[in-house]
Amino acid sequence: MSATELGPGDLAGYRPLREAIATHVAAARAVRCDWRQVIVFSSTQQSLDLAARLLLDPGDSVWMEEPGYPGARAAFTASGARVVPVPVDGMGLSVSAGKTLAPATRLAYVTPSHQFPLGTTLSLARRLELLRWATEHEAWIIEDDYDSEFRYTGRPLASLQGIDGGERVIYAGTFNKIFFPSLRLAFLIVPEALVDSFTAARAATDGAPPTLLQGALADFIASGHLAAHIRRMRELYRSRRDALLDAASEIGRLVALGPADTGLHVVAHLPDGADDRDIARRAHAQGLGAPPLSRYYLGPPSASGLLLGYAHEPPERIRQGIRTLARVLSASRKR
Ligand SMILES: Cc1ncc(COP(=O)(O)O)c(C=O)c1O
Repeated sequence: MSATELGPGDLAGYRPLREAIATHVAAARAVRCDWRQVIVFSSTQQSLDLAARLLLDPGDSVWMEEPGYPGARAAFTASGARVVPVPVDGMGLSVSAGKTLAPATRLAYVTPSHQFPLGTTLSLARRLELLRWATEHEAWIIEDDYDSEFRYTGRPLASLQGIDGGERVIYAGTFNKIFFPSLRLAFLIVPEALVDSFTAARAATDGAPPTLLQGALADFIASGHLAAHIRRMRELYRSRRDALLDAASEIGRLVALGPADTGLHVVAHLPDGADDRDIARRAHAQGLGAPPLSRYYLGPPSASGLLLGYAHEPPERIRQGIRTLARVLSASRKR
């Protein structure tokens, strides 16, 4: 590092990292942007908090997928916004339901590549419908692209930001999932019209993460290690996912798995009426951590299930987890 890099630097982020991110997302996610549109944060959570404070006034409504990501909901609620739960079906967020529930909405938060937590993909027709709505209403869309690097089948999906060309879509990416949660590096790619206000707000609130860390990641990406890391981890996670699918096929009469082509977890759907919180508690008592699906609903849950994370466990532990789940489910059926 040079002596000038010991100063506070650019509070929107270290330029070499912003350039490396812009190049990476253009190639990997078809995102269209200039490096100046990349704003560096320590986490997606931090970036959602700032976006909510900048873009929302108290009482504004925000569309959130139902079920959806509690971290985003918390950021919007903290800014005084009214979170409107919009149902998700097999094609992702129901834009028509959103229009009926709250037509004059300022912001929509979506996870188009891999709906959190259900795992569905937002269809092309829905993407176009959402973009059309945002343009007509001058609303913003936050595309949280939190784990799409780990797609195991088919070609990588293009981002919503890429279809839109970056007019209405704020693209959120995180390195805390690509690497590990304590890394504390994430980013937003904001439309050109928002660059100045995000940069000023970043300076007023905090500034970018440590330059040393940003510089290390910039070098890592520029020398091709990021692409290699993603390839290696994708293979590892794929083998863990396969172990889960294999083991789960033996308990197919007890659970129905949701989509498993992307990400680090899969939803095991339970029969309607099953108390997933009670089942999650019983599983936890036997050493299996599997959050209940109902936890991710703002309103009354319309489905019951468990989130099974597999990326951090070797195959033997995964098989053991499924055996535990089978025991817990069989016991709860008998009760
Ligand atoms: C939908 C979604 N977005 C974002 C994140 C987290 O990103 P970060 O750790 O950078 O806040 C998660 C983490 O679980 C997530 O599930």
